[in-house]
Amino acid sequence: MTALRSTRAPFVLGAYFTGSATNGDAWRAPGEDTDADLSFERYRDYVATLEKGRFDAIFLYDNVLPVPDPSRIARTPALARWDTFTLLAALAVTSSHIGLIGTASTTFNEPYNIARRIASLDVLSGGRAGWNVVTATGGGENFNLVSHVDHALRYERAHEFVDVVKGLWKSTETEAFIRDKHTGVWLDPSRVHPLNHKGRFFQVAGPLNAPPPIQHPPILAQAGASGAGKELAARIGEVIYTAEYDIDAARAYRADVLERAARYGRDERHIRILPGLAPVVGRTESEARQKFERYQSYLDKADILQAISSYSSLGTDLSQWPEDKPVELGLVEETNTHKSRQSLIVDWIRKTRPTVKDILQNFTRGGHRLLVGTPASIVDEIEEWYRTGACDGFNIMFTSAPDGINDFVELVVPELRRRGLTQQAYKSRNLRENLKIPST
Ligand SMILES: Cc1cc2nc3c(=O)[nH]c(=O)nc-3n(C[C@H](O)[C@H](O)[C@H](O)COP(=O)(O)O)c2cc1C
Repeated sequence: MTALRSTRAPFVLGAYFTGSATNGDAWRAPGEDTDADLSFERYRDYVATLEKGRFDAIFLYDNVLPVPDPSRIARTPALARWDTFTLLAALAVTSSHIGLIGTASTTFNEPYNIARRIASLDVLSGGRAGWNVVTATGGGENFNLVSHVDHALRYERAHEFVDVVKGLWKSTETEAFIRDKHTGVWLDPSRVHPLNHKGRFFQVAGPLNAPPPIQHPPILAQAGASGAGKELAARIGEVIYTAEYDIDAARAYRADVLERAARYGRDERHIRILPGLAPVVGRTESEARQKFERYQSYLDKADILQAISSYSSLGTDLSQWPEDKPVELGLVEETNTHKSRQSLIVDWIRKTRPTVKDILQNFTRGGHRLLVGTPASIVDEIEEWYRTGACDGFNIMFTSAPDGINDFVELVVPELRRRGLTQQAYKSRNLRENLKIPST
């Protein structure tokens, strides 16, 4: 196990936020913040704690989904979402080292706007911006369409979109700016390179009207896990988020993505694959169990089961199942939205034949893995996944805020440090340098 230490890329610790009012499923629990959508100070404080724990980056989820059924928004804070890059811009000012990765879809945006927004965030934060490239799980209804864009078409557009953004980021060299008051020369036009892109989806002249990013370029993250999703991740993803639940499946997923990346001529040492993990930590096993029981007691079980059924397109509503009867799935029709999460949940249900109670004990509302234990048992698990090539780090999805964040930083981070997985201090104020991913 230790032999791997020198050959593996450094372990990456990421933090996940919904950009919504609260970060946990159990928002009704006492002490749980319910106003982070109104009070920026909440995010400022979470991020300050995460910087103390030397988290490499925070990652903000985003979507622009319509919510057709009012009962789906009545009991969850999903509809109170900050605009991702506005929130990250504010956090850029209140934090100093942590990476700031935000989601923007390639389906409902234009590359010029996104290139400009992320270049600006990169400069504002001193080189800490990242873009989670998604084709979006839905939202066409808010963008002049009757439904979502076809899956294959979305991914074709995504490839071209990213190429245009990367081209725009390079359109003005950093050295182009002369700013010489004496001669009156502001800029050297020979160092400005209009893009003149003409493709299937976009025509973009450029150059980008923004300061050139400090990172060359800002970090690109991706999370698609369908065939087309993995191709995009393999071609452009530097940080890749997944919802893999099982260590063998995670190892197979990582091997698959790295093999595809090699076909694009990429070096696997420059890719960081991070499964989501939702820990509930206690100083002892019994304290952890108690916290977990408490967390479970505040869950809106029907809402969570409906949410899982819906985004996994199970074709059955899990909230209607009796608590103790194993779930049986009939033929599940392949979805046009979230193909990867559908197959992950469907495969897991078929393999383990769980009751709905088991599902609630194992998955968060977002379909990520719950892990209950002491700092040592949680880090045992984290270390095994990392050392055996199932991941390059984890995307921590706190089950509560602020307690879950404080618990992780106070209890789990010291154990990660003791085992040499994370370090006491940041090496750099630049995300790309902290992740040890060279410029492209
Ligand atoms: C950890 C994680 C975070 C994700 N975040 C987002 C997000 O913020 N917005 C979104 O539309 N999709 C998000 N997704 C979904 C994927 O990026 C992708 O759009 C979706 O999986 C559909 O593509 P697929 O069919 O290739 O899986 C996320 C997936 C994972 C695993």
